[in-house]
Amino acid sequence: MLFDTHVHLNVEQFEDDLEEVIARAQEAGVENMVVVGFDEKTIKKAINLVETHDFLYAAVGWHPVDAIDLTEEHLNWIEELASHPKVVAIGETGLDYHWDKSPKDVQKEAFRKQIHLAKRVNLPIIIHDREAHQDIVDILKEEKAEDVGGIMHCFGGSIEIAQECLKMNFHLSFGGPVTFKNAIRPKEVVKEVPLERLLIETDAPFLAPHPFRGKRNEPGYVKLIAEQIAELREVSYEDIAKQTSLNAKKLFGIS
Ligand code: NI
Repeated sequence: MLFDTHVHLNVEQFEDDLEEVIARAQEAGVENMVVVGFDEKTIKKAINLVETHDFLYAAVGWHPVDAIDLTEEHLNWIEELASHPKVVAIGETGLDYHWDKSPKDVQKEAFRKQIHLAKRVNLPIIIHDREAHQDIVDILKEEKAEDVGGIMHCFGGSIEIAQECLKMNFHLSFGGPVTFKNAIRPKEVVKEVPLERLLIETDAPFLAPHPFRGKRNEPGYVKLIAEQIAELREVSYEDIAKQTSLNAKKLFGIS
């Protein structure tokens, strides 16, 4: 059994063959997935998917790259959706300093507002962090995000940043990059995370693991990520699959 904690089945890359992609994931042993919405269109699609597929759950939030487009109406809508029985987290939210569509102060404000929202509805937060490790940690601390905790999605920070996040009640989720031959840091960090705080994800259709790097990613490939982590930690694949799945269910309140 595998749990892909971060997948975008709700984007156009999967429009033509979604059911085949899902069938291949199930064949690979994927039992559950969280479909992450990050703007108006993808949130709507995520809700639609979880209402038609038992084993899918949704996260609803606003991506930092598009923070400039986030309105109070959107935030109210996201807060309403949070009470949907299959919405299990708020996000993805966070900071992304790679792209400059939204200025940093606008991103920070949108991030803080979504942390407040997550605390009001008592759901974990899914964090997107690109080239913004220290600001993310500072804001999580200032806003006392540890009350709800959540996931550092596709974690790419240092061991020191990992420790800060663990102290604040966050789980660390690893994806495709942990399989890249030249990715030294995630390979080191993934060995240090306490097993009960470890999660796996694909972020499909993005960030496909080796040997599919550069191609469209899909949730079935989460198996390759679990295998790589098992090898790095020198434990069995079954142990990683089972424990990360249990961790995800506990965090999302899925029985
Ligand atoms: Ni994502």
